Amino acid sequence: MNNCVLFSIPGNELLCHSLTELLHVQQGEAIIRHFPDGETYVKVISNVYEKEAIIVCSLHHPDNKILPLYFLAKTLKEFRASSITLVAPYLAYMRQDKRFTDGECISSDLFARLISGFVDKLITIDPHLHRRTSLNEIYSIHTSVLHASPLISKWIKENIQNAVLIGPDSESEQWVSKVAEDAGAPFIVLEKIRKGDRNVQVSVPQVEKYQNHVPVLVDDIISTAHTMIETIGHLKKADMKPPICIGIHPVMASRAYDKLLKAGAEKIITCDSIIHPSNGIKVDELLADEICKNCFVVD
Ligand code: R5P
Repeated sequence: MNNCVLFSIPGNELLCHSLTELLHVQQGEAIIRHFPDGETYVKVISNVYEKEAIIVCSLHHPDNKILPLYFLAKTLKEFRASSITLVAPYLAYMRQDKRFTDGECISSDLFARLISGFVDKLITIDPHLHRRTSLNEIYSIHTSVLHASPLISKWIKENIQNAVLIGPDSESEQWVSKVAEDAGAPFIVLEKIRKGDRNVQVSVPQVEKYQNHVPVLVDDIISTAHTMIETIGHLKKADMKPPICIGIHPVMASRAYDKLLKAGAEKIITCDSIIHPSNGIKVDELLADEICKNCFVVD
């Protein structure tokens, strides 16, 4: 592992530091800053000749990070790093995966093509594969997709007694059922009953059975929090207790965190794939294991 060196894009220093400690590898030195006119300056200080370079950069607010990331990766390659691995616990631009209206850019494809053009490998956690089955459909480089569900199950087991997991819709069933099984807890999935074109009712199945349980909402992303806020509304109507909301990626756009608390969440817990005050589940060991297994052979 001493042939490996880890760099971080600003904002990712904590995770980069934990990974260097867990992996006992060298922390790379680079200066990444802005000129007064806002342009990006990058200088690589560490020797990377024939070393495997790993760049840690969670891609929340990706537009600010993509250029420093590109400049760093390309400069490391110019200085003859043998490979570049991007560790992006949160992978952005996964949602615009089709043209919803004429003329739209399919940004998930283009972003994947951009990243594939300057890194050799990508390690990420639970990317939002909505209409796709695999990252390989859009990324042409080697990708490793890790899952936070075992970490979430463990957190639930250790912290919540008498939990019932709640899936907001049928799409979430596969995932919620797995987390529930590993946490040794029951689960229910909200049911949509269509009464007409504009009249959809949502019911909480077996509600009487779970009224004394602690509801736990689990989702991959909390962005505007609308999905969770709406689900809380249904739980309230069904006289269930205030839920614990667990999200893997706390994107938390437009004061989503405050809105979710105000809507009645008892507590909000997230993975630290994106740094946020709600972080309670660490992903560093998950990533370190994968780097260990995977990072030292380029396909
Ligand atoms: C949807 O397909 C996702 O799994 C999440 O439910 C969604 O991205 C959450 O977004 P928001 O917090 O904006 O409702």
